[in-house]
Amino acid sequence: MNVLTVDGLTVRSADGRTLVSDLSFSLARGARLGLIGESGSGKSLTSLAVMGLLPAGMTASGSVTLETPESGRTEVIGAPERRLNGLRGRVATVVFQEPLTALDPLMRIGRQLAEPLRRVRGLRGAALREAVTAALSEVRIADPRRVARAYPHEISGGQRQRVAIAMALACEPALLIADEPTTALDVTVQAEVLALLDGLVSARGMALLFISHDLAVVSRVTDHVVVLKDGAAVESGAVLDIVGAPRHPYTRDLVDSARRLDEALDWSRR
Ligand SMILES: Nc1ncnc2c1ncn2[C@@H]1O[C@H](COP(=O)(O)OP(=O)(O)OP(=O)(O)O)[C@@H](O)[C@H]1O
Ligand SMILES: [Mg+2]
Repeated sequence: MNVLTVDGLTVRSADGRTLVSDLSFSLARGARLGLIGESGSGKSLTSLAVMGLLPAGMTASGSVTLETPESGRTEVIGAPERRLNGLRGRVATVVFQEPLTALDPLMRIGRQLAEPLRRVRGLRGAALREAVTAALSEVRIADPRRVARAYPHEISGGQRQRVAIAMALACEPALLIADEPTTALDVTVQAEVLALLDGLVSARGMALLFISHDLAVVSRVTDHVVVLKDGAAVESGAVLDIVGAPRHPYTRDLVDSARRLDEALDWSRR
């Protein structure tokens, strides 16, 4: 069973420009796929289309289906908002590049995290407070009780992204979409958050759609990729094959820049 099937997805802007063009890929339960491409190639619009969250005025055509044994099968395109609301969080969820997107600046972290835990698991009182602390510990926040009392601006960017991951996982979704989840973080924190995400996705058997402009980052968490350019897939397959023998010139550029980055990092470690 595929948790996600994207078939001929096309996204058009209000003024009729084609921003994503005839894109197809699928993800089996527990499988992982990287979606890679330069800025503006349509990665985020693809993730928003999967969640039924495209900006007003944009239209999607083709087919996007989400399926789990519990929720059954849903065609996302054209689905009523009520149906989609039942799927968001529980079947599929997104971690965005900027963790503040997911967090309310005026609410303490603990209360924000309590909300999905209460709604989905029906927890209350002391059990709910304990679940909040446990969820923060699970994303390796060293001082979960302090962080639970803090407002988003009172913790670091890396901690905020860990909290955003904890919120995404609170409803135990079958599919996690990570849209450049580490791009806003500095390099050491980036590696830690990537390792954390990798471990949590494995432990829970979630499917992962990992979006990035950086092939070196993608290749750490997944071994299959789709390469997007101007909204269309130009190449797809195993990372090793693509790195070994990129067929499209655009993919070759991505491979070259990933190599340059790796060399630079090796150099800085000496
Ligand atoms: N709300 C919007 N209205 C109009 N055009 C948009 C909107 N959002 C995105 N676009 C356009 O759609 C195209 C794809 O955007 P998208 O955000 O999916 O790119 P991306 O691959 O995620 O880029 P990045 O790596 O910078 O996040 C771009 O040309 C962008 O300008
Ligand atoms: Mg984007």
